[in-house]
Amino acid sequence: MKVGVLGLGSYIPEKVVTNHDLEKFLDTSDEWIRTRTGIVERRIANENEATSDLASIAAKRALEDANLKPEDIDLIIVGTNSPDMLYPATACLVQEKIGASGKCAAFDLQAGCPGFIYATVVGSQFVKSGAYKHVLVIGAEVITRMMDPTDRGTYVLFGDGAGAVVLGEVEDNRGIVDFELYADGSIAEHLTLPAGGSRKPFSEEVLKERSYFTKMNGGEVFKFSVREISRISKKLLDKTGTKLEDIDWFIPHQANLRIIQAGAEKLGIPMEKVVVTIDKFGNSSAASIPVSLDTIRKEGKLKRGDLVLMVSFGAGMTSGAILMRW
Ligand code: ACO
Repeated sequence: MKVGVLGLGSYIPEKVVTNHDLEKFLDTSDEWIRTRTGIVERRIANENEATSDLASIAAKRALEDANLKPEDIDLIIVGTNSPDMLYPATACLVQEKIGASGKCAAFDLQAGCPGFIYATVVGSQFVKSGAYKHVLVIGAEVITRMMDPTDRGTYVLFGDGAGAVVLGEVEDNRGIVDFELYADGSIAEHLTLPAGGSRKPFSEEVLKERSYFTKMNGGEVFKFSVREISRISKKLLDKTGTKLEDIDWFIPHQANLRIIQAGAEKLGIPMEKVVVTIDKFGNSSAASIPVSLDTIRKEGKLKRGDLVLMVSFGAGMTSGAILMRW
């Protein structure tokens, strides 16, 4: 059985924050941010919006696109690094918001920025095995709330958003061709949100050291990301006997334009096949790939039958890639 996307949807908050807006409260500049990251502006959730709100809108759009009702869904998986709360799972909150409460299973999957890739692979196994017919997979983040607004090294990089797909059986030559997942916990220290879990519960010390915000070793993350883009992509292409020139669209995680360019060059894929949305949306972590996929579809670029390679990398450190015939 071939498993593929029956419906796709995304939601990006309306509020635009430009680099010039950030200059007003951070020791940074539009020029620095543009040249070091490729980001021009990002979208930030309103105060009353949390991850499940963005996720639910994207999910409803994906359901509509698939021409399915909430009760048709057997499982909801939300890939996120910025859940509404540590528990319950954001997927359960989404279930209620889309009108599917009590009608399906729901859980979150935390795998850093490749959360959507991991969740799609996991969800597709349920369909492939025959256990479930329709799985709703969402990559959603209000990740900007996990960033220290006084830390110019991280705050300028991120944006909020959500993207969703409904997975199910597809016909013809469509669907997921194959995937690769990878993790290296020995270098997990390079990207962490240290406090708020069982290791470091909230305390006066946590407040003082601001460890309830993300800590990142940017240089190390940069190196890992460039290496992983090409390594995991090549592995997947070799495994499936796919030639680089057969790829129609290459969708890398939108972390930094320089990472994307260096990764694409190392892999040998020309930039005209590389999807770039970081200029408008910043790094929306687990949402960046489904949002990018929906962006090229809305632009009319993504055609039925196109071969799409999606690759992501992030906290864990993790990476993941999916080769899919659209
Ligand atoms: N504005 C102005 N100056 C800044 C800023 C800023 N926003 N941020 C850092 N600087 C300064 C630094 O303090 C440093 O100053 P110094 O030389 O006086 O010490 C100087 O700029 C250079 O800093 P570097 O860290 O060497 O800059 P670099 O070129 O490496 O770029 C960056 C930093 C953009 C963070 C880069 O390392 C990067 O993109 N890394 C990957 C980050 C990432 O993608 N994280 C998420 C991936 S996983 C996920 O998505 C969850």
